[in-house]
Amino acid sequence: MDTQSFRQTLAQFATGVTVVISGTGDLIHGMTVNSFTSVSLVPPLILFCAENRADTFQAILAVRRFTVSILSDQQEELSRRFALIGPQHELFQQTPCQSGIAAIPYLSESLAYLDCAVYDIVAAGDHHIVVGQVDQLALLKSGRPLLYYQSDYYRPVSLPPD
Ligand SMILES: Cc1cc2nc3c(=O)[nH]c(=O)nc-3n(C[C@H](O)[C@H](O)[C@H](O)COP(=O)(O)O)c2cc1C
Repeated sequence: MDTQSFRQTLAQFATGVTVVISGTGDLIHGMTVNSFTSVSLVPPLILFCAENRADTFQAILAVRRFTVSILSDQQEELSRRFALIGPQHELFQQTPCQSGIAAIPYLSESLAYLDCAVYDIVAAGDHHIVVGQVDQLALLKSGRPLLYYQSDYYRPVSLPPD
């Protein structure tokens, strides 16, 4: 099995899109994440997979907390920008955010957000599996989710608007 067929096969799986944010002040970092999923109801756990070198993962290791914003189909541009490597000060200044627990921001125009404490971190190849315990959450806006499929963005036209 080569890397390309591995990628191509996994690209058949459609997902939603989230932005995971951690850190505060000068150490703040956010990244686009589609490996997000639910894990447990009691206690309430979610997970996502973080590339070992991602700045956001380093921030999570430092502060042991993070937020997850679930993107709407109006937020494709934000998804693209949070997937870029580099300084993010301007991006956070230009994007409507609110502070969650421990002053870690979330994207206030998203469909929903979750505020999590690190429950467990498991090394897995070039990524780590980050399991978060959800301390707070909110539905923020009604709308349709942003979808990611075969390395591209889609809007679910057949879904009702809310
Ligand atoms: C749709 C999409 C989904 C992504 N999902 C993940 C993911 O689940 N885990 C991950 O580590 N990187 C993911 N990435 C890549 C990161 O967003 C990207 O590497 C980002 O630059 C990391 O930012 P940071 O170094 O500032 O934390 C995804 C990118 C896109 C466009």
